[in-house]
Amino acid sequence: MSNEPRATARDIAQEHLHAGDPLGWFESLYSRSAGDTSIIPWADLTVNPNLVSWLDINNSTDLGLALKVGCGLGDDAEELAKRGYSTTAFDISESAIGQCRKRFPDSFVEYVVADLFSAPSEWKARFDFVLESYTLQVLPPDLRIEAMKCICSFVSPGGILLVIARGREENEREGKMPWPLTKKELLLFEDHGLQKMTFEDYIENEEPPVRRFRATYRKAVK
Ligand SMILES: C[S@@+](CC[C@H](N)C(=O)[O-])C[C@H]1O[C@@H](n2cnc3c(N)ncnc32)[C@H](O)[C@@H]1O
Repeated sequence: MSNEPRATARDIAQEHLHAGDPLGWFESLYSRSAGDTSIIPWADLTVNPNLVSWLDINNSTDLGLALKVGCGLGDDAEELAKRGYSTTAFDISESAIGQCRKRFPDSFVEYVVADLFSAPSEWKARFDFVLESYTLQVLPPDLRIEAMKCICSFVSPGGILLVIARGREENEREGKMPWPLTKKELLLFEDHGLQKMTFEDYIENEEPPVRRFRATYRKAVK
């Protein structure tokens, strides 16, 4: 991906962040794109390979309800549905959800416009599999803490949360958005009834290479 879309996204994000509106820039970006996804830095228009390899390894037959947090243009949600999950996918951006519905008119995924911080109450403890990929790293640190708590709340007792994010060391600067997470930040998931099952720290062969954390958690059965 060239740096140009990332610079455009950062400019739009900065405007909103300065105006005290850290979540408004997503809709601004998607609506400005008007279907031209080249200005959306994360719009690869294909499923995340870090998700595919995880699903291939953790080939479960015990599928149930899945939730994709911050689904963007829908490719990861479609993959979950294709693998047999009854999938709900949500995004704060109405335009993003509109594009999902347009791209996948015959989809089995339920696409919903919703804000992670005020999601429908019936989603509480409902989902057997929750996928968070790349949303936390575009939220400012103060919002991330609450976001993690909200994400945990969606996982059913015994359910799984898969998190895929950029990673960095504690003493490394977080630099420009997308802001890589630290292992210490991810520990917060374990304060909300989740137990870490796996943690991978690896370099993804992108241009330039990206350090990724991929972690799996299970919610305790009371
Ligand atoms: C970096 S993008 C990643 C999108 C998608 N997961 C992917 O990998 O292509 C983050 C997404 O999270 C959405 N998002 C950000 N804050 C959100 C919130 N509070 N509630 C729901 N979605 C949110 C954005 O609109 C955006 O689509």
